[in-house]
Amino acid sequence: MPTVQFQLNGATVAVDADPDQTLLDVLRGPLGITGAHFGCGAGQCGACCVMVDGRAMTSCDMPMWSVADRDVVTLEGLGTAEQPHPLQRAFISEQAMQCGYCVPGILISAAALLNDNPSPTEAEVRAALDRNLCRCGSHNRMVRAVLRAASEMATS
Ligand code: FES
Ligand code: FES
Repeated sequence: MPTVQFQLNGATVAVDADPDQTLLDVLRGPLGITGAHFGCGAGQCGACCVMVDGRAMTSCDMPMWSVADRDVVTLEGLGTAEQPHPLQRAFISEQAMQCGYCVPGILISAAALLNDNPSPTEAEVRAALDRNLCRCGSHNRMVRAVLRAASEMATS
């Protein structure tokens, strides 16, 4: 199997992978990075979103051959329990989750949005989260949380 090298949460990793294996499988399997979740497996739900070169992308349909030399950030790269990302703090403050299954993907989509547009409108937040499904119906709270994080980041 060829070795694929890429950046993962700020560190260089090299992993032996079938070129057609998905990034999600490699993250959750040999790399033991389980923040990105498996939902639909078809690029339709957003549970598996990771940032690739700064853009939120679904990892369940991303073949490993396309990951070489790219910069991948997963939920684990956003913040830690000791030093949570402002989005993670805001999601807790707004109680913006129920089961939490969709939340890693939503946090990644929101983080990519704020990297690109630090002061989004509500409509822009809704558009950025449009691909991320939440079966618990927590979207309104999530939108409030993203706006709260943006506001906190602007004043810090
Ligand atoms: S699991 Fe990847 S989009 Fe649903
Ligand atoms: S909080 Fe349950 S799927 Fe979103």
